[in-house]
Amino acid sequence: MCGIVGYVGHRRILPVLLDGLRRLEYRGYDSAGVAWPENGDLKRVRAKGKLNILEETLEDFRSTRSSIGLGHTRWATHGRPTEENAHPHADCTGRLVVVHNGIIENYFALREQLKKEGHVFKSDTDTEVLAHLIEKYLEDDLVEAVLRALKDVEGAYALGVLWADKPDTLVAARKQSPLVLGIAQDESFMASDIPALLPYTKKVVFLDDGELAVLSTGGIKVLSINSGDEIEKEIQEIKWDAAMAEKAGYKHFMLKEIYEQPQAILNTFRGRMLPDTGEVELPEMGLSDEVIKGLNKVVLLACGTSWHAGLVGKYWIEKWARLPVEVELASEFRYRDLLLDEKSLTIPISQSGETADTLAGLRIAKELGSRIVSICNVVGSTITRESDGTVYTHAGPEIGVASTKAFTSQLTALYLLALYMAERRGTLNEQERSRLLKALLDVPKIIEDRLGEWHENAFALADEFYTYSDFLYLGRHLQFPIALEGALKLKEISYIHAEGYAAGEMKHGPIALIDRNMPVVALVPKDHVYEKMVSNVEEVKSRRGIVISVGVDGDEGLNRLSSVMISVPEVEADINPFIFTIPLQLVAYEIALARGCDVDQPRNLAKSVTVE
Ligand code: M6R
Repeated sequence: MCGIVGYVGHRRILPVLLDGLRRLEYRGYDSAGVAWPENGDLKRVRAKGKLNILEETLEDFRSTRSSIGLGHTRWATHGRPTEENAHPHADCTGRLVVVHNGIIENYFALREQLKKEGHVFKSDTDTEVLAHLIEKYLEDDLVEAVLRALKDVEGAYALGVLWADKPDTLVAARKQSPLVLGIAQDESFMASDIPALLPYTKKVVFLDDGELAVLSTGGIKVLSINSGDEIEKEIQEIKWDAAMAEKAGYKHFMLKEIYEQPQAILNTFRGRMLPDTGEVELPEMGLSDEVIKGLNKVVLLACGTSWHAGLVGKYWIEKWARLPVEVELASEFRYRDLLLDEKSLTIPISQSGETADTLAGLRIAKELGSRIVSICNVVGSTITRESDGTVYTHAGPEIGVASTKAFTSQLTALYLLALYMAERRGTLNEQERSRLLKALLDVPKIIEDRLGEWHENAFALADEFYTYSDFLYLGRHLQFPIALEGALKLKEISYIHAEGYAAGEMKHGPIALIDRNMPVVALVPKDHVYEKMVSNVEEVKSRRGIVISVGVDGDEGLNRLSSVMISVPEVEADINPFIFTIPLQLVAYEIALARGCDVDQPRNLAKSVTVE
């Protein structure tokens, strides 16, 4: 939530800041602002609304020659989305500004104290206390003042500070909110996420909790916030390129990312499996065969779409590796009395690797002695750094707020992981493993071949159904999590109320909702629960419900029961979640478009939820 960008170097500041903010806008978009030194003072421009409004406001300042500054795009936590609450926030003198991502938990007490000391507050945000707190301690050493201020602060922060009296330096600091620094010849960058840095550099340093960085044209110096001692940091090389974080001719990032799924799935399994021999190679898990054999349970820990991936993973791990699996919502898990020990394996699943609840759950599991192997898309993110091992999904940057390619890549990683553990535990023979890997191998081509047709189906379906206000998604077994995911996609981008349900649960309540105003999306592969699922569809039909089905090619019986049917190829049952997901993503996308919704930046949401 919230995107921070900072730059010091030789380029004109505004294009760098605006470009960076554009690439981070998925993190929050209810207001934005920038600040830079101008004629011995600081210039600060902020605007309520999306970045283009700030851009228009900045037209008059395009000629500024400054080459240092800070920018911010906001996802409101404390204080409504207004210009006054937009970052950067200034101290009383207006000569010091702060951009912040996170939550200052003791802001109220600090604010009251600072007010008593004569500081005047102009916003309702928690962030503004940081500016005044630094002002309070500031004599002539900015770094010293920031270090002292941070000692008073409780909560989470990634922050950038700029002071008019030191117009060649930026100070950054981090605790529990992501911040990555970029290094190039005579220029330094800070950003909440890698895409903001990609046009300029691939050399990055991930700031860790409790670290402060001083950025100048001379490079980056990192200090411990606790001791003030200098810390030697490793420079990492990022493999993504700038084009990967752009739309490449697609109307929306979400659509581009839906279409990228065959490649993302392929990239995630490429080099990790030998279908002929049924072998999977995941040395990055870092677990010996003895440890895998000795495990007593697996906990899959995640939020949102990643949690849905975990629900699918449970079926595979239990069936193939014969291990009990709990799938936990991280926001609940972290407050429970947990039964974990060194024989348990906790697998945090996260696209961003920065989700606050998942990270907190990881830390608790680790403290209890559990082994931690994460599934993550962002190299070097906090979750990966705190895990014993990471199986990366190689989906490339996912910018659309609605997660699509990250989900099917997570499924790929879970599928491999389940087979890897099955092999190590001796619970599935070579022939079976080989058959399942061959089935996975075919997935990219199957999706590639049908994407265009599903997109057309979704377009036609949206035309007919975009005005409805409630949808029910039903699935059984492996398709139950896919029903949840389909409903989540629809609600988050089209603002239509949608519920995913296990079809067998219908009779226990939701069936009361069925009428001609509620389309029911039924996922009906030809698997071992096909007949049961068809019965559920009949029940909907006999209550005058509208049935939208996703079923296999040539299923005439299902077609007759359905108002609309989207056909998918009949595949190995365990592969169905990959296939059934895609039409549902496209349906959500087309319905959202038909309703005129902002698909890539849905209201109230942010891509990465780095606060609780
Ligand atoms: O980055 P993560 O995978 O940890 O994010 C988890 C959720 O916030 C995320 O999946 C969210 O539910 C998406 N908006 C769903 O499309």
